[in-house]
Amino acid sequence: MGIQFDAATSTFTLQTARTTYRMRVDERGRLLHMYYGRRIGRGDLRELYPPADHGFSPDYYPCRRRRGVSPDVLPQEYTGCNVGDFRLSCLVVRDGMTGAAGADFLYDSHEITPGKYTLEGLPCAHDEDSEAETLCIRMKDPVTGLVLVLLYGVFARQDVITRAVRLENAGTAPLRLEKAASACLDLPFGDWDLVHFHGRHAMERKMERTPLPHAITTVSSTRGASSHHHNPFVILCDHTATEDHGLCYGVMPVYSGSHRTDIEVDQNGLTRLVTGLHDERFSWQLEPGESFTAPEVLLCCTPDGLGDLSRHYHTFLRRNICRSPFRYARRPVLINNWEATYFDFNTESICRIAEKAASLGVEMMVLDDGWFGKRDDDNTGLGDWFVNEKKLPGGLQPLIERVNALGMKFGLWVEPEMVSEDSDLYRAHPDWALTLPGRTPAMGRNQLVLDMGRPEVVDYLTQRLSTLLRENHIEYIKWDMNRNMSDVYSRALPPERQGETTHRYMLGVYKLLDRLTTAFPHVLFEGCAGGGGRFDAGMLCYFPQIWCSDNTDAIERLSIQHGTSFGYPVSCMGAHVSACPNHQTGRTVPLWTRAVVAMSGTFGYELDLGRLTDEECDQVRDQIKTFQRYYDVIQNGAYYRLSDPDRQPRYVAWQTVTPTESLVSLVLTHPEANARPLHLCLKGLEEDALYKVDELNVYGVTATPESGDNPASQVGAVCSGSMLMYAGYILPHLIGDAPSVQLHLTRLP
Ligand code: GLA
Repeated sequence: MGIQFDAATSTFTLQTARTTYRMRVDERGRLLHMYYGRRIGRGDLRELYPPADHGFSPDYYPCRRRRGVSPDVLPQEYTGCNVGDFRLSCLVVRDGMTGAAGADFLYDSHEITPGKYTLEGLPCAHDEDSEAETLCIRMKDPVTGLVLVLLYGVFARQDVITRAVRLENAGTAPLRLEKAASACLDLPFGDWDLVHFHGRHAMERKMERTPLPHAITTVSSTRGASSHHHNPFVILCDHTATEDHGLCYGVMPVYSGSHRTDIEVDQNGLTRLVTGLHDERFSWQLEPGESFTAPEVLLCCTPDGLGDLSRHYHTFLRRNICRSPFRYARRPVLINNWEATYFDFNTESICRIAEKAASLGVEMMVLDDGWFGKRDDDNTGLGDWFVNEKKLPGGLQPLIERVNALGMKFGLWVEPEMVSEDSDLYRAHPDWALTLPGRTPAMGRNQLVLDMGRPEVVDYLTQRLSTLLRENHIEYIKWDMNRNMSDVYSRALPPERQGETTHRYMLGVYKLLDRLTTAFPHVLFEGCAGGGGRFDAGMLCYFPQIWCSDNTDAIERLSIQHGTSFGYPVSCMGAHVSACPNHQTGRTVPLWTRAVVAMSGTFGYELDLGRLTDEECDQVRDQIKTFQRYYDVIQNGAYYRLSDPDRQPRYVAWQTVTPTESLVSLVLTHPEANARPLHLCLKGLEEDALYKVDELNVYGVTATPESGDNPASQVGAVCSGSMLMYAGYILPHLIGDAPSVQLHLTRLP
């Protein structure tokens, strides 16, 4: 396992537990991608790519007579620019003196080192258990002097390979990058489906699977955020792949801004994927001696289906991406006042919510939007991160003391990257906002975006937020971002650098997050962008959890959390029980089912608990106890999707498994008359182990016959893992509106 270089054939092999990644420097010095897939042994992969003359695919100059050796046909590790490969390119670079766009990289040197490379100013994976190795390959374009540094981090045991790219101007003329992707992945054989996660505000990460056409398919965002609309995580899997079988490739950018992944099926059926920063309106000036780093991307490949791919990412994101001391820590059950009060609150009303919540077992009170500036609605005040003493006389600390006296922690909402026109900050620094000269800006939620690429903006926010955190006993921050970026123009950059504004914004955000999370390690940070508008691996470096969606309807959440689970673990999905009729959809779902769904995330409440009946309060108490009892298996268990919305439209079911226990959750979304009983084949158990059914909680109405008539369904029943997985388990026959079930199994010693 690890990284090997065979000097005789100039071949690099990255070997992980179950995959092989191979590249080769060819006779001309170009780096060809030979293979990425299931683990393979020795053999000369050159035979897979015999010379073949394809019309209109130009040959390398030395082969112009012989023909058949074309950059347009051979699999490339990272493309050049404008030198004969007409497929998707990784790079557009222009010589500042001649205006010529061109680069053709030749091998220069390489280095294999223990440990994992880091990227200056960008989030990236870290080598948690000293398991990683780094390969650094230097390529050079002889004409411009541009150096391409390809970086590979190999996490062999986890089957994850990270990639990143650094471009260094080692020439004498200024260069201008107009596109600089993070990675290219050529899959010379096979027919692939694309799995991607699209959506909109309050309906994020809906999974879609589609065969790739002979065309270019793009998953992208130009919004300055990874977006609600197209999550940057994509999967390529073979047509027959299922949850449990089949070859799958995951491509997960560690980036939170505008991104772009293109996938092309070319004239010969070769699939090329290029991923990285979005190039629309992007450019980067590279003076001699300067370098540019493209964000990291996490590649994972498995022959064992989509479920296995997800579990690889879940483990890796928690262990090697998230840096927070909270990533494995027990998170408090919280109450958030947003859907309870919106902007209309004061110290007394928040204390009333906190008192009620404390009496039911809630562990943290989070004060959402509206505590600062002159913020009585969403038109004013962003940027003025000073307490609104009309609502909170004496400031935050008296409120925090009362909350703490109830035995609860206190958390606070902020939206630091934004500014309202009607704010003291904007009046003092109008040039800190992104606006185009001579135009009135498009307004999102009547607010503007700060130019986070300006160091003085990042310094100001560091100082203001640090003071807030130092002067008040705040143990949690919800970090929001409630509009996308338009009118992108920085008052601080010269004309030739305007194309850098969007990426510089992200670098500024990462710097601010790095400073604050380092200085305040005891604060639990939750990311948010109008719900899940920035739900990505870049943010997860700083935030161990992210608010999944502004849609708190439990039934809608099933598909949002289902889609999210393909890339991201339960421990990072912010999920709350809210009031019914639901504020977004008007739907009413039983209180227990709302809790079953929210428990599949970082559990909390977001409603006026004072309006609950005594019976409902008892349910909330029970829910919190249930969550706490199941905490380990929910948050740390391996995650299995048990249903496919396209195949089993009646219900959504999922399961988590640790070596000692398992929890199965199911919500019946479409009750049917005269239906067959619900039959589930469980997953992830040990075939020969025995499991005891020790809790079967049915939240809703069961139709006859009673579940007790089925011996295996009875509490206390003991079944083998093989029986539960291969013969399956029959659940009580449920009817009614959105009933749910939790089935808990303990593995017998
Ligand atoms: C965003 C968040 C919500 C809430 C509001 C406050 O929409 O996603 O949870 O915090 O902002 O304005």
